[in-house]
Amino acid sequence: MPHLFSPLHLRQLQLRNRIVMSPMCMYTAGDDGLATDWHFVHYGTRAVGGVGLILQEATAVESRGRISQQDMGLWDDAHIAPLARIVDFIHQQGAAMGVQLAHAGRKAWTRHKGRGPEPTVGPSPIPFADDFVPPRELSAGEIDDIVQAFVAAAQRALIIGYDVLEIHSAHGYLLHSFVSPLSNQRRDEYGGTLENRARLLWRVAEAVRAVWPQERPLFTRISASDWHEHGLTVRDWEPVVAGLRDRGVDVIDCSSGGLIPHAVIPFGPGYQVAFAAHLRQACDIPTMAVGLITRPETADTIIRSGQADLVALGRQLLRDPYWPLAAIRTLDAEQAWPKQYVRAR
Ligand SMILES: Cc1cc2nc3c(=O)[nH]c(=O)nc-3n(C[C@H](O)[C@H](O)[C@H](O)COP(=O)(O)O)c2cc1C
Repeated sequence: MPHLFSPLHLRQLQLRNRIVMSPMCMYTAGDDGLATDWHFVHYGTRAVGGVGLILQEATAVESRGRISQQDMGLWDDAHIAPLARIVDFIHQQGAAMGVQLAHAGRKAWTRHKGRGPEPTVGPSPIPFADDFVPPRELSAGEIDDIVQAFVAAAQRALIIGYDVLEIHSAHGYLLHSFVSPLSNQRRDEYGGTLENRARLLWRVAEAVRAVWPQERPLFTRISASDWHEHGLTVRDWEPVVAGLRDRGVDVIDCSSGGLIPHAVIPFGPGYQVAFAAHLRQACDIPTMAVGLITRPETADTIIRSGQADLVALGRQLLRDPYWPLAAIRTLDAEQAWPKQYVRAR
């Protein structure tokens, strides 16, 4: 029976355990999207701490797709070298590393009273909130360019040496905002029916899969619920996820929310785990559970009970980068400690 410290094979990648560092923006890159020593230490420490897979924070495929001016980027070849240094170090610690490819769409940083260099873009001119600038509706040609930006970022990610790519289609950012009827009121082939609204996400998955080697896994993060009566539900996601699976996506990372401000979300321990369990069953695809998972026993139960194949931790790994090393003892599991730290085991 798989448990938190069982290895997981995904295509040709073997993860040493089921613990994933959830992507978390550090808003600490240079103005040009370059990784800094902060990122080297921050990600490197979690690899030393025993995480199986580190997912790098939302990393913009276009400069206008940043959430903040200090987001990391993959839109330029200059981004490659400092990221390769981080990925090499992570590999030396026995962890795998992925990057979350992102476009913030209508939630991009220009929202701050429109002071950014470019207007935000989105499916329809509907702002995220009253104090946001309305996005400019993307033309079909511009949508093609965005697909290409995801492809170019994936090609740079391959040069850098990441093991996993994750497409960010959650939290109200561009791809999610196309899928949700609350933010997409287009009348062309990208709007209207669920199939049309999923078209951009599916295109991105297909195009990225075509340049990402067959032996490396591709993940997609979704917001399984918009937490709004007219928004997306986990049932709406079933055909979309099946379409992603058929296009070569290997894991669905099940988050929620972020599309509308002030959503009423039933926060509590493991409050999103049911989404991972549901889609794993309904769509026959490996899933990752995330959200307020803090105890080793809880994470282990999620894996043992077949609710998800991977467990992602966000804030708990900010509080304690060595959480996995401690969990080895709590769960009486086996995984080597870093040799430099063995005297503390
Ligand atoms: C500081 C911070 C930054 C985050 N940035 C991202 C991000 O870049 N991409 C993303 O998909 N989620 C992001 N999230 C959400 C986390 O990945 C995670 O899903 C969320 O924090 C819930 O998990 P937790 O309760 O274990 O923290 C961020 C969360 C935090 C706390």
